[in-house]
Amino acid sequence: MLEINNIYKTFNAGTVNEKRALNGVNLKLNDGDFCTVIGGNGAGKSTVLNSIAGVWPVDSGEILIDGKDISGLPEHKRAPYLGRVFQDPMTGTVADMEIIENLAIAARRGKRRGLSWGVKKSEKDKYREMLKEFDLGLEDRMTTKVGLLSGGQRQAITLLMATIQKPKLLLLDEHTAALDPKTAAKVLELSDKIIEENHLTALMVTHNMKDAITHGNRLIMMCDGKVILNIEGEEKKKLTVEHLLQKFEEVSGSKIENDRMLLSE
Ligand SMILES: Nc1ncnc2c1ncn2[C@@H]1O[C@H](COP(=O)(O)OP(=O)(O)O)[C@@H](O)[C@H]1O
Ligand SMILES: [Mg+2]
Repeated sequence: MLEINNIYKTFNAGTVNEKRALNGVNLKLNDGDFCTVIGGNGAGKSTVLNSIAGVWPVDSGEILIDGKDISGLPEHKRAPYLGRVFQDPMTGTVADMEIIENLAIAARRGKRRGLSWGVKKSEKDKYREMLKEFDLGLEDRMTTKVGLLSGGQRQAITLLMATIQKPKLLLLDEHTAALDPKTAAKVLELSDKIIEENHLTALMVTHNMKDAITHGNRLIMMCDGKVILNIEGEEKKKLTVEHLLQKFEEVSGSKIENDRMLLSE
């Protein structure tokens, strides 16, 4: 489904700020794979997701979705394949528009029918059902402006917007990192549910090792612009934090120095 072949990306090439962010990344995801991504700060996790989304072109290598090389396509031409949710709950939704308007816009993205025709009752009913499943009480607040919601509620709406058109690939970049632990757990639970019910393929960056272990059927670890660990199948199911740390030491020959990752319980 997704095939990343040997991609490289250097920022600010030829200047004192030159930074090789991706150093030959390879990754293959099958249809329905839910792969968590961990690694220290600056390991290249967000850069991989940005490369897939086409925020800028990669320097070399290719990115294929369903066998089609998309690495030459501009960002807006890749958007129909992708759903994205970022860390900041303020991005992704329009604050001064109602919940229902935000959802309707997401449902119409890339289509000719605009919002000027209004939102039909059948469509409203559909959204109400979806929101009800979230169990956040949002189904009774559909005309509330999104700006009045909590961060967690906004991330839940963003998640629904990112998946309403059933993208081929869902990209989640630390999308619960800015939320309090309880809300984060709730949004993660929703993510699981949406991914499973819609049979989505997903990449989820997290700095929380436990979350990376308990969610998804695959896990990769990045370090210095490379994928240094790729765990799947039975091994992923049986994985523990201790085992993961040991694996990391085997592969990298050093102890994990990133306290942010270690401290995330
Ligand atoms: N747009 C950019 N311009 C310059 N440097 C960047 C840019 N994006 C990322 N980098 C650098 O590339 C490296 C990898 O960053 P990133 O992928 O964001 O790491 P993380 O694994 O924490 O998500 C870092 O050193 C970062 O500073
Ligand atoms: Mg990042």
